[in-house]
Amino acid sequence: MKMFGIRFNAMPAALIASLIVTVISIRAYALDPADTVGPDECIDCHAPEHDVWENTTHYKTYDELSLSDTAAEIAEALQIDDIEAPDGTCVNCHFTLVGDSADDAEPVAGISCESCHGAAGGWIDSHGEYPGADPESESPDQRAARIAAAEDAGMIRPENINEIAANCLSCHTVPNEQLVNVGGHPAGSDFELVAWSQGEVRHNLFWNDGDTNAEASPERQRVFYVVGQATDLEFSLRALAKSVEEGVYREAMAARIGQVVAGLETINQQIDSAPVADMLAAAGSIDVSAPDPAAIEAAAEKVRNAIKTFASSQDGSTLSALDSLLPAEGHHSDKY
Ligand code: HEC
Ligand code: HEC
Ligand code: HEC
Ligand code: HEC
Repeated sequence: MKMFGIRFNAMPAALIASLIVTVISIRAYALDPADTVGPDECIDCHAPEHDVWENTTHYKTYDELSLSDTAAEIAEALQIDDIEAPDGTCVNCHFTLVGDSADDAEPVAGISCESCHGAAGGWIDSHGEYPGADPESESPDQRAARIAAAEDAGMIRPENINEIAANCLSCHTVPNEQLVNVGGHPAGSDFELVAWSQGEVRHNLFWNDGDTNAEASPERQRVFYVVGQATDLEFSLRALAKSVEEGVYREAMAARIGQVVAGLETINQQIDSAPVADMLAAAGSIDVSAPDPAAIEAAAEKVRNAIKTFASSQDGSTLSALDSLLPAEGHHSDKY
């Protein structure tokens, strides 16, 4: 078997499984700089979305991080000289790298379009190209083929909200034990997908003629709410599985798992969903006080599969029982 360019024949099955899990769980936030193009390449066709993005914390971290005293303290504790070094720790979550390879890349922006929609080198030219001048020139089959090709090339479309949520939480759980325990970096964000996607991050302008930045529909927000909590559970489990020592990191991840499990229990009292019950059963099978990495990764995989089942079978129309749980307004940072 050959995967990600590595030969596996000679390796024991358990090692193969753990390598695959590792590659999958880090893939989300560490984009290959050889595949990224940078946000400037999107402006020609997505100027309104780009304008919104320029007012987000994600954009501002590019200039602000190097001016922050907290960043300097974290870097000093970790003996990091240059927080913008392309092969360093910080750029993976705070910046977008573009270059020929991981060793030969430059940070060109903060957290940008491709951090959430996937590295665009393989799809930027084709994802919006119709056979004629406008969308009407395209048959339904042609449309399906265009979209499938973009997804195969790594595009994460808004429709695939479980994939987008996985990206958010691969950064926002901050799954790096040394960064937290030694560096004193925050051990994850107080993240909730509806509030955090419908506030400063929201850029639903493209399908609204570029003028109206519409909130996601109530149906869609209900699905976001469940997928957000469930994906938080998945990535908190994966983060706990990486823990090798007692400390702030392990305590924070265990507490986070407890919180999202409580959230999912409240959700399931309202909607009684089989996939959500599967997620809760998977989380209930692990012992957070004595973490067994293989068992926790296995539970995280079960959660992932249940999220896919949930997201692909739900349009939110039958989930109105969740409306009283949804946040009243979107989250706007007061940081920069
Ligand atoms: C040459 C014009 C062009 C460029 C450049 C471009 N796009 Fe698009 N984009 C489009 C068009 C047209 C569509 C609508 C496609 C459709 O009808 O499905 C689109 C749709 C999208 C969608 C929404 C898809 C959906 O299903 O709702 C996303 C996300 C997106 N583009 C991201 C990007 C990003 C990120 C970049 C830069 C890396 C980029 N685009 C660059 C033209 C472009
Ligand atoms: C795994 C992803 C990840 C990595 C790696 C990472 N950060 Fe962060 N960082 C985050 C997230 C997410 C936040 C937002 C936390 C929150 O919601 O308060 C953040 C916030 C910060 C803040 C703001 C803290 C505050 O109190 O407002 C600083 C400063 C910072 N990071 C510095 C660094 C430095 C320096 C490095 C490299 C040594 C680094 N980060 C690496 C994800 C990461
Ligand atoms: C923090 C992650 C994130 C970043 C950064 C981001 N997007 Fe998005 N994008 C999303 C999410 C989530 C949605 C769906 C939101 C919803 O349904 O409310 C979306 C939706 C879209 C859409 C469809 C909008 C519509 O009218 O429905 C387009 C087009 C798009 N993004 C393009 C871009 C471009 C271009 C950039 C960079 C300038 C960008 N995005 C940056 C997460 C992101
Ligand atoms: C590549 C990593 C990464 C991804 C992907 C990502 N974020 Fe972030 N996000 C960060 C970092 C890092 C910060 C903090 C930057 C700083 O403080 O300098 C942040 C900050 C934020 C903030 C501001 C919080 C505050 O109070 O300051 C919001 C809101 C946010 N992210 C929402 C989202 C949403 C929603 C998604 C997914 C649709 C997402 N993020 C995806 C890394 C990421």
